[in-house]
Order: sequence, then C-alpha cells, then structure tokens
Amino acid sequence: MTAKHILIVGSGSVGRRHARNFAADGCRISAVDPRTDRLRELAKDVAVETCFDSIEEALHVTGKTLDGVVVGSPPKVHVAQCEAAMAMGIPVLLEKPVSPDLAGAERLAAAVAKTKVPLLLGYTWRWWPALADVRRHLEKNTIGTLRHVRFVMSAHLADWHPWERYQDFFMASAEQGGGALLDESHWVDLALWFFGMPEQVSARVEKISDLEIDSDDNVDMLLVYPNGLRVSLHLDLYGRPHERSIRFSGEHGTILWEPNRVAIGHAGEGPWTETKYDHQRNDMFVAVAREFIEVLQGKPVRTCTIGEGVDVLRVLEAARRSHKSGTVVSLRR
Ligand SMILES: NC(=O)c1ccc[n+]([C@@H]2O[C@H](COP(=O)([O-])OP(=O)(O)OC[C@H]3O[C@@H](n4cnc5c(N)ncnc54)[C@H](O)[C@@H]3O)[C@@H](O)[C@H]2O)c1
Repeated sequence: MTAKHILIVGSGSVGRRHARNFAADGCRISAVDPRTDRLRELAKDVAVETCFDSIEEALHVTGKTLDGVVVGSPPKVHVAQCEAAMAMGIPVLLEKPVSPDLAGAERLAAAVAKTKVPLLLGYTWRWWPALADVRRHLEKNTIGTLRHVRFVMSAHLADWHPWERYQDFFMASAEQGGGALLDESHWVDLALWFFGMPEQVSARVEKISDLEIDSDDNVDMLLVYPNGLRVSLHLDLYGRPHERSIRFSGEHGTILWEPNRVAIGHAGEGPWTETKYDHQRNDMFVAVAREFIEVLQGKPVRTCTIGEGVDVLRVLEAARRSHKSGTVVSLRR
C-alpha cells in the first residue's frame, strides 16, 4: 500500500504530536502554520515534505496529492479550514471543539452531509481505555441506577505549554476560541457519550482567577436528565495540582475514575476494588490517528462524529445562555 500523505494544519502542540504519530505509522507529512518557528520545530521531529503558511496555499499547491488533512489550529479557524479541505474531497481529522459557536458547528455538519466527505472529530478521551471500561460498567449497571455524576477538570494554564507565555497561547483569547468552556468541553462530550443529551442546563461561565487572559477560566455546570440523573461539571484553568476525575454515584455503589485508575465500591466503608492502568497521554492520539487511517482506507467514522461535536456545542451554548440570563435553559426539542 502506498504511504498516505497527510497535511497537518496548525503545527503547534497538538499538530506536532499528530505529525509524529502519523509519521510513525508510515505516513508522509506536509505542514501548515503562519509561524515559521513552529514549522521549523515540527521539522525537527519528522521529515516534512513541504511547508506552507496557509491552508489555501497548501491545498492549491499540493491538494491533489493529499489523502487526509488534520486540523489542529485554534478553534476560530476550524470550520473554514475543514470546508476548504472538504471542497477538494479530502477527509479531515478535526481537533475539538468543532467551532467556537453552535452556528459554525452546524454549518460544518451541513457541509459534511452535503459533500459526504468523512470527518473524524478528535474528542480524544473517547479513545482512553479506562473510560471505555467505565462506560461498559455503566451499561452493565454495576452500581445500580445512577443518581449523580461529578466531573472535575482542573489544570493551571501556565503549566500547559512550558515553552511559551500562556498570555500568548490561543487559550488566553476568547476571540481565538480559547477558555475553559470550549477547551475542556472534552468533559461535556464524555457526559453526552455516557448519558446522551440532558434536558436542562444551568451554568456559570466566568473569569475569576488572576490569569492574564480574556477567555473564561471557571465553569460550573449542572446537567439534568429526564430520568432524574444530575451531572455536575467543574472546569477550570487555575487549579494546582491538576485534577482530572469523574465520580459516578449509583443506588448500589460508586465508580471513581482518574486517568489510570478505576475504583468501584459498594459498601459504606469500602472496600474499593481497584483497577490500575498504564496508559500514556499520547496513546489516545495514536488510537485516533489509526482510526483516521482506516477512514482514509474507506471505513466509516466510528468513534466521534461531527453530529456529536454539534451536540457538545448545543450544551455549551445553553451554558452560556444560562450564565447570561441567570436561568435554567431547556434543551427539550
Ligand atoms: N484532543 C486533545 O486532547 C487536544 C489536545 C491539545 C489541543 N487540542 C486542540 O488542538 C487545537 C490546537 O491546540 P494546541 O494546543 O496545539 O495550540 P497551539 O497554539 O500549540 O498550536 C496551534 C497552532 O496553530 C497555528 N495557527 C494559528 N492560526 C492558524 C491558521 N490560520 N492556519 C494554520 N495554523 C494556524 C499557530 O501558529 C500554532 O502554531 C485546539 O483546538 C485545541 O483544543 C486538542
């Protein structure tokens, strides 16, 4: 089989990671970034065939030779860049979130439906084995009827990219699509992956820390489901040490998830039955890349679709509306 030619659009942190993973799986890599320093850094990791400073130029010059495009740029430009690739019939792996707003996400979903060009969405925690195990426990009703679930995602922004000032990172800018609500929407996606769409959303979406950013750094959200389940999400950009955890409380017990640990308890004072894992962060990106290569070979998008990305934006938009109006927002259709 001939090597697939992948265009990496946005050669920053995630783009570089994808480039390394696709190259390790035998793909040819070209890259786009308006910053030449970013392209130079990428070229230290992988053999880059051609570098461009815009996707338009890349598609014009090399579009006919491309098998796939990976969009890992700031959210503000995601939709337009996907549309440009899809207009040439090139399948896309799009990093989350689909777009800073629901209208953009719906526009892209319409383009996918119209062109039938495959788009795989990178809510990468869906490929994390310990979370797939938790999902199976929930399907098997291991802890009985669920009553409450609490998601926590807390990580100080200054620790994310030690090689740059956080003030210069797109995450600092609301206009670029930064902020806890959009970027940590992984956790909203997982809530929808586990439980589907909620009926009601109430939220505060705020900037409360001393971080020098104009995007939001604190989100507290409550999702209410038709069966009575309550799901709370706390997302922040100021917490240290960092925390990623989910606690599922059911009628007959509790499941605790941390990235490499799942603990299940059924009695008042324990004991907990614990399963430890040894997965590295990059593993989920490798798994996404492999699914995308299968998509390029003609298999359907399985794990995360544009429609699921639109649903996340529906919840995020409801959260913004709830914060602005101080009311509970209904998602009943
Ligand atoms: N799935 C995950 O877990 C995960 C992890 C990290 C980042 N991401 C997502 O990936 C995207 C990028 O995040 P990052 O951390 O790599 O940011 P980054 O700032 O490190 O990289 C983004 C790069 O895009 C470049 N860029 C800006 N405008 C561009 C344009 N018009 N065309 C092409 N490139 C452009 C920037 O110069 C920068 O090098 C975001 O949407 C983010 O949410 C996802």
